[in-house]
Amino acid sequence: MWISFAGIITNYKDVKQFLVQKGHKFRSDTDTEIIAKLIKHIHGLHPNYSFRELVEQVIQQLEGAFALCFKSMHFPGEVVATRRGSPLLVGIKTKTKLATDHIPILYSKEHSKLKDTQSDHRPHGHEIPAHGLARSQSTSEFLPQGDNKEVEYFFASDASAIIEHTDRVIYLLDDDVASVEKEGVLKIHRLKRTLEDTHAREITTLKMEIQQIMKGNFSSFMQKEIFEQPESVVTTMRGRINFDSETVVLGGIKDYIGEIRRCRRLLLIACGTSYNSAIATRQLLEELTELPVMVDLASDFLDRNTPIFRDDVCFFISQSGETADTLMALRYCKQRGALIVGITNTVGSSICRESHCGVHINAGPEIGVASTKAYTSQIISLVMFALMVSEDRISAQPRRSEIIQGLRNLPDQIKEVLELDSKIQEISKKVFEKKSLLVLGRGYNYATCLEGALKIKEITYMHSEGILAGELKHGPLALVDKGMPIIMICTRDNVFVKCMNALQQVTAREGRPILICHKNDQEPQKYGSSVLEVPKTVDCLQGILTVIPLQLVSYHVAVLKGCNVDCPRNLAKSVTVE
Ligand code: UD1
Ligand code: MG
Repeated sequence: MWISFAGIITNYKDVKQFLVQKGHKFRSDTDTEIIAKLIKHIHGLHPNYSFRELVEQVIQQLEGAFALCFKSMHFPGEVVATRRGSPLLVGIKTKTKLATDHIPILYSKEHSKLKDTQSDHRPHGHEIPAHGLARSQSTSEFLPQGDNKEVEYFFASDASAIIEHTDRVIYLLDDDVASVEKEGVLKIHRLKRTLEDTHAREITTLKMEIQQIMKGNFSSFMQKEIFEQPESVVTTMRGRINFDSETVVLGGIKDYIGEIRRCRRLLLIACGTSYNSAIATRQLLEELTELPVMVDLASDFLDRNTPIFRDDVCFFISQSGETADTLMALRYCKQRGALIVGITNTVGSSICRESHCGVHINAGPEIGVASTKAYTSQIISLVMFALMVSEDRISAQPRRSEIIQGLRNLPDQIKEVLELDSKIQEISKKVFEKKSLLVLGRGYNYATCLEGALKIKEITYMHSEGILAGELKHGPLALVDKGMPIIMICTRDNVFVKCMNALQQVTAREGRPILICHKNDQEPQKYGSSVLEVPKTVDCLQGILTVIPLQLVSYHVAVLKGCNVDCPRNLAKSVTVE
């Protein structure tokens, strides 16, 4: 059985328990496996059912949101696909024209439900009985006209995945079951007929260019990727965090966790934004692993011929998995016998292949050169790692629990931050013609200062610096006067008082900073020229919510200055040359 699955099965535990009672053994903890075992189970009960009928039985038992595609050696040459809540489309590629622009829906008779499982909890439409209404219409009329009957089908969640092959697609609706049967005939079935049902699915011709389809309603990939973060952080956590039992399992690391706990120190090595994600999580890694943690820029690490030992654990963080400096540092450490852990977004990349183990951050493809959603997903991946390593420490349980609940609320809080967009656009109008922009903060927000300033530099070409507020009086304070644009991050954490102190030093020199602080926190707000209020979360996750306003500032300033947001001058997406 081959299954491609996107989404989440919410009654996963019930179905698994049912199957375990029936004697099925499980090898993994995944949603996907219960689906495979469930279809196997039903096939055992009803050996005469067609492939499509088996799938129809399966989805009646599943709750949640999903898109599924099935292939089986019992049904060679057939594919069955279905969706509920998650998008799914079928691309059709033929050499000649199609005879029609739609496929009629076929209604299946209701089969008796599985015994022993609960009744069907799916949301119902206005249902009328299918009996007597089922049509036995042939669908072969949609097949290609002319001599060449060759036809190819593509199943995907998004048109961007198939547009290079064909521009003709059928968007499936919830509970449609599409099956490719022998001779390459495509049929679309529904179990029941509802009143609002149309009786056919249109074959749509996509008119947009690839780039346009992928960008959707956004003006650039960077903007799209910033706004994708409520979803991308969820895909990073999916299947890894169980919010109810408060457990975290990174499948790519779990076999190495013993070795990691016994190591001498952790080294995090990366470049650019990936380096900033290491800065963002260093403090939590120190706290939860109780190990010394070194953070290094890959180029500097190589320049220094840093001593590395067999009992070191070295992390290499890279969105593309191809960053040349990071890859060279990896080889250097591997040669010296250290355990090599990759944190990458690209499956099959060099860093992924050459590392002993690792975590795919699963942020989805990042096309904008300026990294945004990969940064927040890198942070979450490293936080999950810290949670997993500390699972056996009883004293750390309250802290772990607080962080896990914080992660659970993050997607909604990110949405809230994104609602600041128009306010940020207004603020950007005030600063886009300035020469320079300083970003100040400390503690967990220091990484946000570095990353915010990096975003501003790389896409707006404006000078920008992330400054540790604790360093202010050792030099940078000299830059401050009433003309110097400053953004300052000041959230309620263990360094809040120190931050307020720095804020007062800035205002004493007539600086009027733009403030990023917690919602309804009056105290810092009285010192700001304008205020961006973000929701409060656990200190170690706060950086995810404070960096998004800065991603948006850099985006809006770049647009106002007429810069090419997705392709900044002099930069490339993955730096693979020396
Ligand atoms: C894996 C599957 C995922 C599936 C899940 C179900 C892949 C790529 N991932 O995810 O589709 O839903 O099981 O249990 O097939 N690795 C490195 N270096 C890196 C990153 C990863 O060596 O930089 C290795 C890991 O150690 C692991 C493998 O690649 O062996 C996959 O990593 P990851 O995708 O993170 O694992 P899972 O989350 O378990
Ligand atoms: Mg590997």
